[in-house]
Amino acid sequence: MDSLIKLFVCFYVFLFTSLLFAEINGVEGSDKNHRLYGFRPTKLFVFGDSYADTGNIKKSLSSSWKFPYGITFPGKPAGRFSDGRVATDFLAKFVGIKSPIPYFWKNYAGKKRLQHGMNFAYGGTGVFNTQAPLPNMTTQIDFFQNILTAGDIYNIPSNLISSVALVSVAGNDYSTFISQNRPASDFPAFIKQVVDQTEVNLRRLHALGVEKVAVPLLQPLGCLPGITFASSFQRCNETQNALVRLHNSLLQQAVIKLNNEIKKSTFIILDLYNAFLTVFNNKGANPGSTTFQSPLKPCCVGVSSEYNCGSVDEKGVKKYMICDDPKSAFFWDGSHPTEEGWRSVYSVLHQSLTASFMKA
Ligand SMILES: *[C@@H]1O[C@H](CO)[C@@H](O)[C@H](O)[C@H]1NC(C)=O
Ligand SMILES: *[C@@H]1O[C@H](CO)[C@@H](O)[C@H](O)[C@H]1NC(C)=O
Repeated sequence: MDSLIKLFVCFYVFLFTSLLFAEINGVEGSDKNHRLYGFRPTKLFVFGDSYADTGNIKKSLSSSWKFPYGITFPGKPAGRFSDGRVATDFLAKFVGIKSPIPYFWKNYAGKKRLQHGMNFAYGGTGVFNTQAPLPNMTTQIDFFQNILTAGDIYNIPSNLISSVALVSVAGNDYSTFISQNRPASDFPAFIKQVVDQTEVNLRRLHALGVEKVAVPLLQPLGCLPGITFASSFQRCNETQNALVRLHNSLLQQAVIKLNNEIKKSTFIILDLYNAFLTVFNNKGANPGSTTFQSPLKPCCVGVSSEYNCGSVDEKGVKKYMICDDPKSAFFWDGSHPTEEGWRSVYSVLHQSLTASFMKA
């Protein structure tokens, strides 16, 4: 288990060294709301980490505000942990609304723009505290609740009946656990705690009146470039993926239990685990997904293990290499997909998402 810890520490470094912010500009999406089922989603509220952050994290804390982040979209660094769009943008597109404004920028956005919802996700966060001063998911939901209580932006409950939430828990709790040198034998119990706390958060969002809550399963952490560089980006680490599957099966059980309790299909699972693997293995059978030649190899990578995408030395000389075409890579950096990677993942998820949204 010791080497598992080392690998997770390495994963930790990757997730955090790429911590960073954007302008309000340019989060596009189609403005027409399509009817997914009996209700027409008009708002998206987002909670979680770097897979969902579209510009909340402070510039001083994150590489996502440094070149070459954002080169595909919006064309310069803007706080997204990718070359372009991230999960929030693709889910917004799916439900047919504009990508919501980051909470941090709410005072710079017009009232009309705020009606698409708000993004409370901060890169590097977990359901529990990770790095101070980043807000854990409980605190992010507090921000949301305070805005609802203030009542000057959204009318509750009527405004929430047509709302969707995304709750991204992509692994920072686990990298933090490892960095604290806690015994590896505690891992399974800690996984249970993470899922239990996620369930508390999901219950709260439902109690606040959100109509549909999308809950991604954990992606295969053992396939992230920060891990697979040990095999020159050839093989996923199966030991780590087995732990991820434990997290995912507990999370799925929690979601089934919640839906049974409330007798509605409020909570929707987004199976990122299998969607990532499907894209990695795609040889053309999934026409919506790109076939990536070396799916585990990131586009932007440090020249050695001490450097990350976006890092420069004291003289400003860059310490990373970037591929010719970000569209050709699934991964952008040590832990985050490219825009093309996310596009492919959401294309694989499209059918199950549609089916889940149809269920009342
Ligand atoms: C995968 O992780 C396990 C547990 O951390 C470790 O023992 C093993 O060496 C890793 N495998 C590879 C191929 O890196
Ligand atoms: C979230 O953060 C707040 C502020 O640091 C802390 O008081 C609270 O215990 C944290 N919640 C969880 C579930 O870790």
